[in-house]
Amino acid sequence: MSVTWEEYLTVPEAKARFIECFQRCRGAFERHRENIRNLVETTSPGIVACLGAGVLNDIPYRTLAKSGAKVHLVDWLAGSSDVGISLSLIEMDDGEQPQCLYCDVSHDSPEEFCLNYRRSNGSADKVCDSFELSQCDPPTCNAFVKGDSPSVHYEDVTGGYANEFGQRLLHEMRDARTWERAFSKATKLAGRIKPTGRLSIDDASVDLVTSSMLVSQFAHEPYNFFAARTAERLGAPTPEHEARLLPAMEKLRSALFTHQVERHLDEIQRILSPGGKCYLSFELFSTIPQSHQWFMVEGVPKALQAAGDRFHFNFDAIPESESIAQFQTRTGRSLTLCVVMESKPIDK
Ligand SMILES: C[S@@+](CC[C@H](N)C(=O)[O-])C[C@H]1O[C@@H](n2cnc3c(N)ncnc32)[C@H](O)[C@@H]1O
Repeated sequence: MSVTWEEYLTVPEAKARFIECFQRCRGAFERHRENIRNLVETTSPGIVACLGAGVLNDIPYRTLAKSGAKVHLVDWLAGSSDVGISLSLIEMDDGEQPQCLYCDVSHDSPEEFCLNYRRSNGSADKVCDSFELSQCDPPTCNAFVKGDSPSVHYEDVTGGYANEFGQRLLHEMRDARTWERAFSKATKLAGRIKPTGRLSIDDASVDLVTSSMLVSQFAHEPYNFFAARTAERLGAPTPEHEARLLPAMEKLRSALFTHQVERHLDEIQRILSPGGKCYLSFELFSTIPQSHQWFMVEGVPKALQAAGDRFHFNFDAIPESESIAQFQTRTGRSLTLCVVMESKPIDK
């Protein structure tokens, strides 16, 4: 039995993997946290939606929670943002005493954020009576049970496009006996999908949307799901065969990337309030592994074109020096564009 799309998106030993991802990647995303922090401070949004929030490595969650904004966190990996929240709550003060973001006495309604909150009798306490320290890195509270806020949505940020492709793929490919046929069927499917799904966030309601390091992911999924399922059924192609398949491969990857970017930007356009802002960041260039040579990341011109069709770019909203971020990846270096976008009036 082949792995279904839903099974594919279910991370094994999820909690441990998400914690490991937080510990490993947090440093690389500091620039995005700083940029979003600046935007929250300068624009005081009432409602914020972080798309592709994952474990919140690039989301300044403490700033968002303290700002009083209503926060939506969206990712399709179930459990990821819940783990990110629990890892963002506890900080040690200068005297190495724990302080909890939600238990802070200045917080209006801690019960809305933690169901286990029990007011402390010591007025200077920075943790509540339920607090139980877990000495992991970063420290967490064992007693934390998430309340109604923030709103966490385990949903597809491409308005259901990627999910529908993944769900229909196995059926579509059931008769494909060659790689050529599999590519052809998958590419036709990619062009046929007209998703009607949408995030469970109201139209024109969000003052600040973040789409941080998300668009770059559309080059990988659900293409990798297709490649893995096809290799399972037909065996991996030889290097010579793979070279011949290259044009078909490019065609499918490009179709999936373009449709996902467009549907994602449509969703941002739908939920953004009049006068709202969107922080968008994605990789422009990367180095070839073990080399100093840079190449342009797949899909960059298309992503910029699709963004420019729907939004105005605002290069004054974050400091000029922060608009391009360079960071170290596992295999080399990467250059990222960080830009703020604002709605254009929609043509009637
Ligand atoms: C490179 S990560 C960005 C860092 C992430 N905010 C973090 O801190 O873990 C991209 C995130 O987007 C999510 N993602 C990718 N495609 C998605 C989709 N179609 N719908 C929802 N989430 C998606 C991934 O699960 C991942 O968590």
